[in-house]
Amino acid sequence: MATKPQAGSGRQLWSGRFREPVDERVKRFSASVGFDQRLAKQDIAGSLAHARMLAAAGIITKRDLTAIERGLGRIRREIEAGSFAWSLDAEDVHLNIERRLTALAGEAGKRLHTARSRNDQVATDLRLWLREEIDAIDAALAALLRALIAQAERHAALVMPGFTHLQVAQPVTFGHHLLAYVAMLERDRVRLAQCRSRVNQLPLGAAALAGTSFPIQRQRVARELGFEGLAENSIDAVSDRDFAIEFCACAALAMVHLSRLAEEIVLWSSPRFGFVRLPDRYCTGSSIMPQKKNPDVAELVRGKSARVIGSLVALLALMKAQPLAYNKDNQEDKEPLFDAVDTLKDCLAIFGGLIAGLVPVPRAMRAALAEGHATATDLADYLVRKGVAFRDAHEAVARAVREAERRGTDLARLPLATLRRFSPKIGADAKRVLTPEGSVASRNHVGGTAPAQVRKAAARARKRL
Ligand code: ARG
Repeated sequence: MATKPQAGSGRQLWSGRFREPVDERVKRFSASVGFDQRLAKQDIAGSLAHARMLAAAGIITKRDLTAIERGLGRIRREIEAGSFAWSLDAEDVHLNIERRLTALAGEAGKRLHTARSRNDQVATDLRLWLREEIDAIDAALAALLRALIAQAERHAALVMPGFTHLQVAQPVTFGHHLLAYVAMLERDRVRLAQCRSRVNQLPLGAAALAGTSFPIQRQRVARELGFEGLAENSIDAVSDRDFAIEFCACAALAMVHLSRLAEEIVLWSSPRFGFVRLPDRYCTGSSIMPQKKNPDVAELVRGKSARVIGSLVALLALMKAQPLAYNKDNQEDKEPLFDAVDTLKDCLAIFGGLIAGLVPVPRAMRAALAEGHATATDLADYLVRKGVAFRDAHEAVARAVREAERRGTDLARLPLATLRRFSPKIGADAKRVLTPEGSVASRNHVGGTAPAQVRKAAARARKRL
């Protein structure tokens, strides 16, 4: 939990060249400690690896290293216990920790910043932090996928209308429909994994922008921190935030997928559709209308996708006109990124429970199917199998649909004799293809909606988890 930093009258760590103390308003304006203290754990890990490398390279002594390790260990405990005194004077998480370290470890603390700048430090912290969050998001995605796959397996044979233009199009199974979201979220996982490997590159060593005159060992630091490689070019390493932008793009896309599912849940649960019942524990009532049971969770997920899209746009706009290398603008990268991570994680977690609790209403789905001539294409295909050209078959069935409309009934309910008026090739066996079950069962190929295929697809998805 973030603690409120205290204002004080201390000197800044960089105040050597200044004649007057910084204006109070400027101090508050430029401080980031209020939000970047979230990076404390990563800042300490990065400092430890840096100090160990400095000692190994003979840039600081073993004794200095021991003092630094001890001091940083204590600071970590203070932060975890909530007793660390965050200060606005120290501007950001990096200087807060460094100042405390110097208070604890004296000279050794002052040596830690050798061959380093806050510019490569903050880029390192942010990458370490985001790497961990990507792993947490991946786990949350896997959990949601598990819930979707379980529902798809349970309802592999449950027929419902599939829609185009939000109009009843053809019968599909509820399981098949849910597996469409499984496919989307699986791609989100792959995208995030690829993004992770570009996040997982070490900037430390770039220093302010030009590298350092000390004989540093970047590979050693990378290894200790679990980075896959180096953000090699020192100017690029401190200035680009494309890794954060890329993450937000992945997050925005995942949120758009959740938002579409949320939208469907809102529609399905509305009494006009009545396709699903939502668990009471995921709904809210109205303070004025006693009869209401609102799908607030789904609506909020749909709404929150806007925040994550906003984060992506914010970071793109933040980056676009910055000259190389580091600019303070980049301090503005954190809050949108944090918010994108928090929002996506929250939405994934809550959606898992909502999906697991969805109860479909087969009767309502079937009733909707019976109103939309949903098996018209099946009848046309039937005629094609009897030797009619598809365009002619299409025309014959379209006329039959018009007749059904005129009688206020569904194509599937027209008597055989009536159907035969539109094509003499229609026989008694056509009745079977006009049922939703016959329709879905006939789409029996990889990626099709036949219950057997849905079960197989669900099993494959389960294996990929
Ligand atoms: N708080 C700063 C940030 O978030 C850290 C880097 C500051 N570097 C500097 N030269 N002012 O980006």
